[in-house]
Amino acid sequence: MIGEQKVLFSGMQATGSLTLGNYLGALKNWVSLADEYMTFYSVVDLHSITVRQDPAELRSRARRLLTLYIAAGLDPEKNCIYYQSHVSGHAELAWILNCFTYMGELNRMTQFKDKAAKHADNINAGLFTYPVLMAADILLYQADVVPVGKDQLQHLELTRNLAQRFNAIYGDVFTIPEPYMGKTGASIKSLQDPSKKMSKSDENPNASIYLTDDPDTIIRKFKRAVTDSEGQILYREEQPGIRNLIDIYSACTGKTPEETVREFDGKGYGEFKMAVGEAVVSTLRPLQERFQQLFQDKAYLDGIIKENAQKAQYYSAKTLRKVQKKVGFPERLF
Ligand code: TYM
Repeated sequence: MIGEQKVLFSGMQATGSLTLGNYLGALKNWVSLADEYMTFYSVVDLHSITVRQDPAELRSRARRLLTLYIAAGLDPEKNCIYYQSHVSGHAELAWILNCFTYMGELNRMTQFKDKAAKHADNINAGLFTYPVLMAADILLYQADVVPVGKDQLQHLELTRNLAQRFNAIYGDVFTIPEPYMGKTGASIKSLQDPSKKMSKSDENPNASIYLTDDPDTIIRKFKRAVTDSEGQILYREEQPGIRNLIDIYSACTGKTPEETVREFDGKGYGEFKMAVGEAVVSTLRPLQERFQQLFQDKAYLDGIIKENAQKAQYYSAKTLRKVQKKVGFPERLF
């Protein structure tokens, strides 16, 4: 809470191109919740450097991502859209929280285990303490709600534990945040291997739909999507490929999985795949068009970036000063 207002915080990494999973699992819910909360949406570039990045490319991707937030429907006059690296409080609070986090807790994080396996030549301390920085992001703004996909729930649970631990020692400092997940779309799977999540970093380009894919590419990828030989469109564990397509279609159209199953009762996989592809194309088209317009308006974007960074700085500093005082740092006389 900030004053009487409930707060929403969320963020995305500017690594790789955003996928349909990022959109349906997170961004879409950010937009639908925005009116109810005081909102902070960050491009989390500090997190990105936990794996090696090309500097120019990171900068360019971060700007594209920030523009995409706006293109998806977040009004930057009402929603605070900013770069994490522009607000020093994230790293400062992360340091303090590091001193309240146990190695054992971080060792259990499945994302760390996955990423460590993927980047065996660069298992750096930042990768290990990544979830603590994420906790700092959230707690810095006293967030009540954090819309995320399923893969981030473990990090949210850690955030809640850290907040409770800190509050138990120092009194009511942090709001305890709740995760928010949509009914459909919280875990979109790879189109080529439905046992894995759809991921920005998948090496097979047919596995993911990127938000920048053109209509032909989208339809082609859905045509090639891995399914099964059951020949029935049913929403069940035994048919993970079809289940994923039902999830995607439902999330794009606002239908429930049951309604989608009814709609395609007796239809073939080919027809269903086409319908899913078309639903995705029409979901992404307006976003892609707005992106193209906005991205060219350099002065407008620069203004938004500056104003919102100042706003984020203002609110984050309030929490940070409180925390610094609680842990015993000397008062600032300047
Ligand atoms: P990131 O950048 O990997 O993903 C951004 C958001 O997209 C969701 N997501 C998915 N949802 C459904 N299906 C998928 N296949 C899929 N892939 C990704 C993620 O759950 C996420 O909500 N650590 C975070 C970024 C972060 C953050 C935060 C999020 C940093 N600080 C504070 C919330 C609050 C991450 O790497 O997300």
